[in-house]
Amino acid sequence: MFLCICNALPEQTVRSLAREGMSFEEIQAITGCSNCCGSCREMAEVIVAESRLTPARSTSLPVMSLA
Ligand code: FES
Repeated sequence: MFLCICNALPEQTVRSLAREGMSFEEIQAITGCSNCCGSCREMAEVIVAESRLTPARSTSLPVMSLA
């Protein structure tokens, strides 16, 4: 689902960037979110705030002990 229709920006992209620790302003700077009509801004800020509370999942494999 697009969060920002003007920029064809998926909600999941915003969530992923926020989970990596980016602020709304940082996400806005690289994606253009809310830079056109602005109707998505309030929802984008809520999604960023929610997502920053949930840390990014590690993509590395678990380390096994050989001892
Ligand atoms: S829908 Fe995001 S700027 Fe228009």
